[in-house]
Amino acid sequence: MKKSVTVRVPATSANCGPGFDSLGLALTLYNEFTFTVSDEQYGFSLKVEGEGKDSFHASGRNMAFASFLSLWNKLTDHRRIGLDVQMKNQVPKSRGLGSSSTAIVAGVTAASILSGANLTQDEILQEANKLEGHPDNVAPAIYGGFTISFQENGVAHTLRTIPKMPLQFIAVVPDMQLSTHLAREAIPKVIAHPDAVFNASRTALLTAALLEDRPELLEFALEDKLHQPYRAKLIPGLPEVFAAGKAAGAYQCIISGSGSTLLAYASPEKDGDAIGKAMVGAFASCGQTAVYHILQLNTKGTEVLHVEL
Ligand code: HSE
Repeated sequence: MKKSVTVRVPATSANCGPGFDSLGLALTLYNEFTFTVSDEQYGFSLKVEGEGKDSFHASGRNMAFASFLSLWNKLTDHRRIGLDVQMKNQVPKSRGLGSSSTAIVAGVTAASILSGANLTQDEILQEANKLEGHPDNVAPAIYGGFTISFQENGVAHTLRTIPKMPLQFIAVVPDMQLSTHLAREAIPKVIAHPDAVFNASRTALLTAALLEDRPELLEFALEDKLHQPYRAKLIPGLPEVFAAGKAAGAYQCIISGSGSTLLAYASPEKDGDAIGKAMVGAFASCGQTAVYHILQLNTKGTEVLHVEL
């Protein structure tokens, strides 16, 4: 027996400024995974092309293998398998663009298909959320578009929608990894009530502005006081890069997920290259090299490209 599946999972940008651990959107940058299960040989093998290609290893600690096996072992009795994973990566690792979510969602989706269980999207969300711990990256990776998520008693709930507002996103990726664990440790456990009020108003405003196409509100609606002020010190040059993005025409700039990528939200009519170059230049003047990608909203979420059963 030998069966395989290829899935393509989009990058994601969690938080969207004020919507900490809740809002997220999918972007047109992808990791593609082919999982092949065989009962003719036993063990793991891995081939990686693209982003981070030398930093992944074929082991149960690799997120793609771990997420596949966690669901596979729940759904089947076939424990002695050979598992080969081939990855074609565009999403930079540990940069706040949901690279680990792509692996989690791909592993869960592949196990669902190759086991024959064919889980629904909501079931895939529940499995992926248990592995990731918060749904704001895995939800847009599965559904595409813009997602509003919350958890209650360990169950993830997501409202997925497509903003009416046309946007382009300029992702400026510094040559600096930032672990989500470290970036979460930087945030205080308790915050002041006025800051909670600030974020509640901005999160509500952002959601309505995107759905109602009110771009003039984005400058305020993307502001945050829950995590960005604390994480700013982990990303040298952040104020200068934000200022450069806005001066070059972006509505506003935010930290993508837990960083280190900084993301400009801009009208598609603006010159994305000019915004990207200005932000990369501001990083450079602070001694930090960076690259930029001009991205759109991905609306398809996870796609199954090929199945052989
Ligand atoms: N909401 C999460 C955070 C996203 O900002 O820590 C990163 O996984």
